[in-house]
Amino acid sequence: EAGRIADDEGLSVYVVGGFVRDIILGVENLDIDIVVEGDALRFSEKLADYYCAHLTKHDRFGTAVVVLEDDFKIDVVTARKEYYEYPASLPVIEGGTIKDDLFRRDFTINSMAIKLNKSGFGNIVDFYGGRRDLQMGLIRILYNLSFVEDPTRVFRAIRFEQRYDFRMEEKTEEFAIKAIESGILGKVSHERINFELFSMLKESNIPAILERMEQLHILKKVYPQIMLTNDLKKVLRNAEEDFAYFSEKLNHPESPDRTLLYLLILHSNMDHENAAKSSENMRLTKEYKEEILKLIEVRDRVLSNLSGNVDISYYDVYNELKGLSIEILLVLCMISGEKKVINRIILYINNLKNIKTYISGKDLRDLGVKPGPEYKLLLEEVLAAKLNGSLQTYKDELEFLKR
Ligand code: CTP
Repeated sequence: EAGRIADDEGLSVYVVGGFVRDIILGVENLDIDIVVEGDALRFSEKLADYYCAHLTKHDRFGTAVVVLEDDFKIDVVTARKEYYEYPASLPVIEGGTIKDDLFRRDFTINSMAIKLNKSGFGNIVDFYGGRRDLQMGLIRILYNLSFVEDPTRVFRAIRFEQRYDFRMEEKTEEFAIKAIESGILGKVSHERINFELFSMLKESNIPAILERMEQLHILKKVYPQIMLTNDLKKVLRNAEEDFAYFSEKLNHPESPDRTLLYLLILHSNMDHENAAKSSENMRLTKEYKEEILKLIEVRDRVLSNLSGNVDISYYDVYNELKGLSIEILLVLCMISGEKKVINRIILYINNLKNIKTYISGKDLRDLGVKPGPEYKLLLEEVLAAKLNGSLQTYKDELEFLKR
């Protein structure tokens, strides 16, 4: 239909970028980017009308988003020519042809288009050798200044390499290394770097991406507090398998927040000061920051108190772990690696965490206890006895109190 609307309007219209790349690779991709040779706003209005879809227009940029369903949206932009006034600046934009538009893109594999007009419908437009590079598994820039103009492309190159098991073409890698060594990443705003960090954390092969970032000396530059030691690498490499194992073992209603899990792992070997610095540098949300600092605060104590050499009661296990999020508990299992610790944490999540006393403040009042600090103490004692297994029923608890 987009093609028919384009024909009616006398415009040439193309699907471009990642969607085309993934169609050729046979990978699912729900983000459709459309480029219009001409007025993108007019075209997007007709398209939204046709589908009775919601339209968000950015008049200033001549771009629009047509939202068909929650996770299905189409970005529509005018074909443009772009140039940069100085390295790492935002580009100056002018109208252009599809060829111009594809040339300003990051890599050849992302520089292909598929025509949507009736004449030539479905034709792949490939000026820069995208199909050849897809076949050869190569990430290749289109022009030498690509990384200088947009240094975030270094992160993108690594992400695509590891996602598709491709590698950077030799010259491209040289340009990437030169750009990194020139210190240009320091000129990119935190927001843009962090956008790349969170994009990376959505990928399936996070450890490989991090190791590649380390190899290219990026990690030290943008996240100086991260210490990719051999121990941490091991935790990262086992992470996905561990998550799967624990999700099977645990009776936990919600699935853990995967982004938070990886952020916790990345900070798990830092001291408080570096963890605070790093989460500040990453501009993490208050909730994420608090989780990270909590992990650092309890880490050493929990790991030593729950270890096999220590003889402790269920109530002690409960007290060590109470209030900790499922993500922190999982990461404690992963960094410990000790069977006894893991079993105790699993026992806590599956059983101890959910144990509550039947008796309440009201029962204490009925027994003639005066309200005050003693209330809490007594309830705590009942909980301790219950966790340790000596109380089953409401009656048991009342008997215990009377004593
Ligand atoms: N693009 C670019 N330079 C960037 C970011 C994006 O040239 N720094 C271009 C690429 O052509 C890319 C398209 O814009 O294909 C859309 O960008 P984006 O949605 O970020 O990437 P995708 O290629 O769709 O990748 P992903 O599968 O990760 O969403």
